[in-house]
Amino acid sequence: MGGRFVGKVVVVTGGGGGLGRAVAVRVAREGARLVLVDLGVDGLGETADVVAGAVRGTDVVQIVADVKREADVARVVAETVRTFGRIDGFFNNAEVAGERRRTEDYGPVEFDRVVAVNLRGAFLGLKYVLGQMREQGHGTVVNTAMVDGSGNRAAYAASKEGVIGLTRNAGLEYGRHGITVKAIAVGSVLTPPLEEYLGGLPEGREAAEERVAAEHPMGRLGTQEEVADLVAFLLSDEASFINATTVTIDGGRRVDP
Ligand SMILES: NC(=O)c1ccc[n+]([C@@H]2O[C@H](COP(=O)([O-])OP(=O)(O)OC[C@H]3O[C@@H](n4cnc5c(N)ncnc54)[C@H](O)[C@@H]3O)[C@@H](O)[C@H]2O)c1
Repeated sequence: MGGRFVGKVVVVTGGGGGLGRAVAVRVAREGARLVLVDLGVDGLGETADVVAGAVRGTDVVQIVADVKREADVARVVAETVRTFGRIDGFFNNAEVAGERRRTEDYGPVEFDRVVAVNLRGAFLGLKYVLGQMREQGHGTVVNTAMVDGSGNRAAYAASKEGVIGLTRNAGLEYGRHGITVKAIAVGSVLTPPLEEYLGGLPEGREAAEERVAAEHPMGRLGTQEEVADLVAFLLSDEASFINATTVTIDGGRRVDP
């Protein structure tokens, strides 16, 4: 099998569904050995099955771990190194979307819950994987941020802007060690959380999708495959001079201040 990830080890947090699964399949097609991390065995097993169906003989390790727990994240890195001896790529992707309500109604407990997974979890991933990559003298991390157009998401918005800051900061620190850290800022892509949101809107599922699609200048949502293509590129050696920055994939939705 040929491809940009032959002989490489890629860890995917939130690998039990959505974009994590799409990225896992994408890099496995190009030869990656995989470590999939998520909260439960069901999603992980499904991803492993999809990978096996797409690419025969891929090495896949499944690890049940909670990215907001330091001991879990340390275990993910240690177990990966024990199994494969290295980590070439780390897709720092696990998330919770959180409640949607305006800021004055947003609960502090919910705020802390979302930030714990999306921001603290992303930080812990960086903290543990960067130490390993520094010892190796190489490696790439792709963090997951977002492009928002709707409001009502204080914790999610804050955590994802925080991820952009973490990306910039870590890229500055580790570039000299042969390591790159980048983020993607994603527009709307049909994955389980967006599906759930659209399905719960009073206007109805179809009308809601049309409205959200229309917020994107291309008049449609992004696909999981389009995001997976970008992440695979960013994790590959082809993106070796892209560091400490965020790449937007949103069909033109983002309006920069
Ligand atoms: N889909 C979109 O439209 C969109 C838009 C912008 C950004 N993103 C970002 O893309 C990434 C993937 O989102 P998605 O749409 O695929 O969501 P998803 O819910 O399908 O996948 C997220 C995965 O993370 C896992 N997870 C949640 N909490 C965890 C924890 N504490 N520890 C370990 N795993 C945990 C979930 O079980 C799930 O499998 C997220 O970071 C999200 O913010 C997605």
